[in-house]
Amino acid sequence: MLPEIRTTIPGPASRALAERLRACESRNVTYLADDFPVFWQRAQGTNVWDADGNRFLDLTGAFAVASLGHGNPAITGALIDQAGTLLHGMGDVHPSELKVQLCERLSALTFERWGAGSGKSVLGCSGFEAVEAALKTAHLAAGKPGIISFCGGYHGTGYGTLAAGAMPRFRDPFAKQLAEIGNVMPFGMPGLEQTRAALANGEIGAVLVEPILGRGGKVVPEAEFLPALRALCDEFGALLIVDEIYTGLNRTGKLFACEHWGVVPDIICLGKALTGGFPLSACVGKAEIMDAWPQSDGEAIHTATFLGHPVGCAMALASLEQHADPAIADAVVATGEKFVSALAAIDVPGIGDVRGLGLMLGLELPADTDSGALIAAALRDGIILLADGPGGGVLAFAPPFTICDEEIAFACDWLQEYLRASFASSS
Ligand SMILES: Cc1ncc(COP(=O)(O)O)c(C=O)c1O
Repeated sequence: MLPEIRTTIPGPASRALAERLRACESRNVTYLADDFPVFWQRAQGTNVWDADGNRFLDLTGAFAVASLGHGNPAITGALIDQAGTLLHGMGDVHPSELKVQLCERLSALTFERWGAGSGKSVLGCSGFEAVEAALKTAHLAAGKPGIISFCGGYHGTGYGTLAAGAMPRFRDPFAKQLAEIGNVMPFGMPGLEQTRAALANGEIGAVLVEPILGRGGKVVPEAEFLPALRALCDEFGALLIVDEIYTGLNRTGKLFACEHWGVVPDIICLGKALTGGFPLSACVGKAEIMDAWPQSDGEAIHTATFLGHPVGCAMALASLEQHADPAIADAVVATGEKFVSALAAIDVPGIGDVRGLGLMLGLELPADTDSGALIAAALRDGIILLADGPGGGVLAFAPPFTICDEEIAFACDWLQEYLRASFASSS
């Protein structure tokens, strides 16, 4: 459904909520400005309604979480049923059957489907926890603490993920608290020789990589890159950890992005769209590698209160049931192609690349574009957008897969008009 266009966004209810939040939430969490944010009240499909009753078109999928559509009926139904039956379990002591089912399903969809044995999981809540479980596994399995990660990569804001290598903005304020384990390489083939040299030095237990940079600007590497990392990890005895928290579950037009290059990782990290809206993540590794974790003697060395949350597991099972249907990947490819064509047809001086795969797309803005102003203007005109990449120079598109032709056309027409007007006023 197309958005409503109102020029008074944020409206009075959102403004009042922003003022209250300013007084009670720590600074540097929610960005609060005169024209930002709106407070979400409900969402369905590709649409979000705010506290003032305005309807928006969501081109972000709420951080690529709502892939199957906001309020997906099967997922919501699973949540409601489960909440009325068992709201909370004892994740690593007396878990629910749903945890068993989810771990089995994750194994079936990854290593078993890839013909690479079976998988074992460590479940978590946020995405960064899955990555940190993977980093711990690498240390146990490879016996080497060092980690290689890549420039422009984003793996979350926990201390382990920051130490592994993070954008300076997230890492620098806390650098003195971080272990010296990260080695950050250029992303893509230009970084390969340096990666090889670091691996040859011996103390690297894991190579941590996003198959396509998400927050780094929707950068798709050369076709040789991921296979080359696989080969280097095999040569030097390091684990290949693919962080598919953003790219996973059909977002790029394959169930998992590593499948574009036929690469089987040692560990895959999932989150975001796994449940479509509940904080649950998974570190899924090859069974033999995960068996580097010692048997529990009654007190686990890695646990969390909400690990294997029954509501999250029920939602993940409902979501995976849908994601396992290859028709979803086909639909994402077809819709993605239409979106790319519409973005590529935007005719404005200075506009750069359209890049990405499936419905994980980026549009490089003309060099002098103020992406913050663009995002605020889009919001006023009913479109929820985010920017990625260095300096926010890449508009990011990760809409619900349910986005239709009319909505794509609406968004691209709006963008063309906005960019033409800003070019006219700056020249
Ligand atoms: C590739 C990737 N890894 C990890 C994370 C961190 O996930 P979370 O914010 O759930 O901790 C994100 C979040 O955007 C991500 O895009």
